[in-house]
Amino acid sequence: MHHHQMKALVLSGGAGTRLRPLTYTGAKQLVPVANKPILFYVLENIAAAGIRDVGLVISPETGQEVMESVGNGSRWGLNAEYILQERPLGLAHAVLTAKDYLKASPFLMYLGDNLIGCRVRGEVEQFLQDESVSAAIFLKAVQNPRAFGVAVTNGDGQVVDLVEKPVNPPSNLALVGIYLFRPEIFEAIDHIHPSARGELEITDAISWLIKNGRRVESHIIHTWWLDTGKKDDLLLANDTVMDDWLKTHIAGSVDAHSQVTGRVHIDDGAQLIRSVVRGPVIIGAGAKLVEATIGPFTAIGPGVLIERSTVDHSVIMEGCHIRDIARLENSVLGRRVKVCPTSTPHGAISLMVGDDCVIEVRG
Ligand code: DAU
Repeated sequence: MHHHQMKALVLSGGAGTRLRPLTYTGAKQLVPVANKPILFYVLENIAAAGIRDVGLVISPETGQEVMESVGNGSRWGLNAEYILQERPLGLAHAVLTAKDYLKASPFLMYLGDNLIGCRVRGEVEQFLQDESVSAAIFLKAVQNPRAFGVAVTNGDGQVVDLVEKPVNPPSNLALVGIYLFRPEIFEAIDHIHPSARGELEITDAISWLIKNGRRVESHIIHTWWLDTGKKDDLLLANDTVMDDWLKTHIAGSVDAHSQVTGRVHIDDGAQLIRSVVRGPVIIGAGAKLVEATIGPFTAIGPGVLIERSTVDHSVIMEGCHIRDIARLENSVLGRRVKVCPTSTPHGAISLMVGDDCVIEVRG
């Protein structure tokens, strides 16, 4: 069953500074987790909620890349349209920018860099049925509420207070970046002003609804919610997604001298030559492993070449080349990174790296 009256709005614009240096050149929503852009998990969840029409808010810097990877959305059975937000002036500003697209529809708003371990179909249906609810938000109990929007609820799950990144959090319930709205959110946005960080905050718009007597419901999620902002978060997201969802699938070629154990996904055209792979591991199309030992918890992107090296607990993106490295672990390599032993006669470290990279070597 599809919800024709409901739309989805995915926020895939923004400045993308939190995952530097990986996002200097790319959209943070396209950073891969288990070889799949975070944004694709978002679109799968929207499709699974029975929604067909999705508007993606994009920025001038990374919009092209987002459009190229998502296309018209037909891969997920979605009708995707794009809405250009000239500047990242806040989540509520993004909603305003999408006003012509959303028209009078209720909508599911989803931040394009949010990864959760559950579906939202039931909550979407409940929202559509009960028109007395003005908005609904998803919450998760967290250790560090200061980093998020924080909500206070009453015993019935109704939201009574909301604050964005509070210094003194009134609860440990963080706003997961998933929201359900009706058109009256536009009225709320008309009444708010830019916050201290210069953005029109959706949190303030929802607070306005509450202060004006509208009902705002909450849904607490009990599965994982992953913020992929930093290296360790990205590695954790990668571990969790592979742990929960990875299934064995071997389309590439594994020679007689290689050994594959545990849950391992090998895409078409990938080659394992005299290599050992311990799942969970995913290996992208056209990757080539020669005398390599990989895993557990490692994602090898498409076209990666690994020779005579050991790699575990890492995310190795498209086109990287790792050669003769005794052991690489807990690492995130952006696209086309090359790691190999030094060629200087005195064994000096020799680097060619971009801004803000972090390199940990034996001192
Ligand atoms: O991750 C959950 C948190 O997301 C919530 O707890 C907060 O209440 C909410 O304000 C938001 O906080 P962040 O500061 O982490 O949001 P961020 O700037 O990272 O933007 C979230 C997504 O929205 C990201 O994919 C970029 C996109 N975006 C952001 C802005 C500010 C836009 O498309 N346009 C924008 O103007």
